[in-house]
Amino acid sequence: MEVIILPSPEEASKVAARLVARVVRDKPTAVLGLATGSTPLRLYRELIALHQADQLDFSKTSTFNLDEYVGLATDRPQSYAHFMQENLFNHVNIPPDQTHIPDGMAANVPGHCAEYERAIQKAGGIDLQVLGIGSDGHIGFNEPVSSLSSRTRIKTLTRRTRADNAPYFGSEDAVPHHVITMGIGTIMESRGILLMAFGEKKADAIAKTVEGPLTALVPGSALQMHVNAKVIIDEAAASKLTRTDYYKWVYDNKPDWQKF
Ligand code: PGA
Repeated sequence: MEVIILPSPEEASKVAARLVARVVRDKPTAVLGLATGSTPLRLYRELIALHQADQLDFSKTSTFNLDEYVGLATDRPQSYAHFMQENLFNHVNIPPDQTHIPDGMAANVPGHCAEYERAIQKAGGIDLQVLGIGSDGHIGFNEPVSSLSSRTRIKTLTRRTRADNAPYFGSEDAVPHHVITMGIGTIMESRGILLMAFGEKKADAIAKTVEGPLTALVPGSALQMHVNAKVIIDEAAASKLTRTDYYKWVYDNKPDWQKF
């Protein structure tokens, strides 16, 4: 894993946006895997700014989101479909039929999940998957002890994740129990990974993901097996790592051709 530690979420998001922009500029037909939640909000703002001020063109780009709540229609403000419209899709030129989000209202959930996997394959696979991480180490909504080979499927949220997401719903009781999420196996097939995390609350999950043992107890640790995973975090999220000096040394001394 390449660990990039920056002073603030704002600076980290600017670097993350440069990476996404490079993927899209190098390959206009790029397939992006997208995440929701508070972490990627600044990244999406940066991408919108690059689109508006710097002609970053998404017209040939396709997107696949990681997850969605079961039982939430796309017009519900807490749905991830609504989140993506508000925070990215309404502000850039990705044609709507090139965006994909699991359907939380699917009548046949297993059938829909299999179809989602086929759609990713048909699009040629994901070039860059954007990820946040849960305080319990989940990626997508793959909660601890998810199979490290899992595919898109229904998952039951942990109490901790429901508590973490309660602010969006007004109360913990209102947070759905079930979600549809890409699996860890699905995520691992992406050609590139961009994991972001900000704040002290994520420090433990980041330390275990980057420096802990590979274990289904910490789904993020599966990324240790990925050939091209970048972890872009702020100082607070990095605060429990032990090898920060090395990570900073590597970033400060990148050969020119590796910079983005
Ligand atoms: P957050 O969620 O970005 O809102 O902290 C991340 C996650 O649960 O994966």
